[in-house]
Amino acid sequence: TCNWTKGRLIMYKYQGIWNLKGLHEGSILAQQNFKAQPTDVLLCSYPKTGTTWLKALSFAITTRAKYDGSTSPLLTTFPHECIPFLERDLDQIENNHKNSCFPLVGTHIPYTCLPKSVSASNCKIVYIYRDAKDVLVSYYNFVRGIYKVPEEDAPFKEAFDEFCEGVSSYGSYWDHILGYWRARQERPGRVLFLKYEDMKRDATRDMKRLAEFIGYPFSVAEESAGVIKNIIKLCSFENLSKLEVNKSGSYNPEDATKIETRTYFRKGKVGDWENYFTHEMKQKIDSLMDEKLSDTGLITH
Ligand code: A3P
Repeated sequence: TCNWTKGRLIMYKYQGIWNLKGLHEGSILAQQNFKAQPTDVLLCSYPKTGTTWLKALSFAITTRAKYDGSTSPLLTTFPHECIPFLERDLDQIENNHKNSCFPLVGTHIPYTCLPKSVSASNCKIVYIYRDAKDVLVSYYNFVRGIYKVPEEDAPFKEAFDEFCEGVSSYGSYWDHILGYWRARQERPGRVLFLKYEDMKRDATRDMKRLAEFIGYPFSVAEESAGVIKNIIKLCSFENLSKLEVNKSGSYNPEDATKIETRTYFRKGKVGDWENYFTHEMKQKIDSLMDEKLSDTGLITH
């Protein structure tokens, strides 16, 4: 069981990856049925690293010829409904393959467990990552929120210990990053890494990289007309979190538990970990991540 929820949640290990009960089924179905196309772009992430934001931005980039800031489906549709999840929405993905050229698919599945067709097709991958401390705080609050675990039954220190042991949804955070990092080495030019904190600091730079990478580069005219800025504004935490659909809507992830969409919009800040971590905990997780990622040169904090 997941100890820090006082046994409320069950964890399973499958293909070497820990996960919350119910989350493996979607990965298995995807492995069996997903036929990646060379034109697909997978938006990959460990839970709580900024998936919703990346989906909103990528959706706005790829559909900007059709919609502007006042007509975008993002104003009335939860970002996870705009872009299908590989482990949840196979039918929708198949329809997109058949009927349109919509290339975007989201997933939390670790690289090593992705369907074989992904490496065979050599499709593009965007990977977003974030400071492990904020990832844990976000995950802790998300899980407590959806499974209604009261604070007194969820000691943060225990959640921290499990996270540092790698017992968390979709496996350990460092293995998740490492898997995609290796994919980046193996597939030059086909994997783009983005960092949540960099995007918070200067979204314009990463927006240009992202748009170019997924094949929808901004023209000089668009940039001077403020198109990039408008997309950043449309997809900002401040804007999305106050939309009715993201405030009072609901969403069914793959284990069929109904989740309120607002659970995906908590604070959207860098550094909320300071309200949860002791100095020792900070030291421990920072050195753990540094050690695990030492070959990559990536610094998550
Ligand atoms: P916090 O819990 O720290 O607020 P994911 O989308 O991968 O599930 O990650 C959720 C985290 O991203 C939450 O972090 C959430 O508030 C934040 N988030 C959601 N939308 C965002 C946006 N448009 N811009 C920045 N952060 C966003």
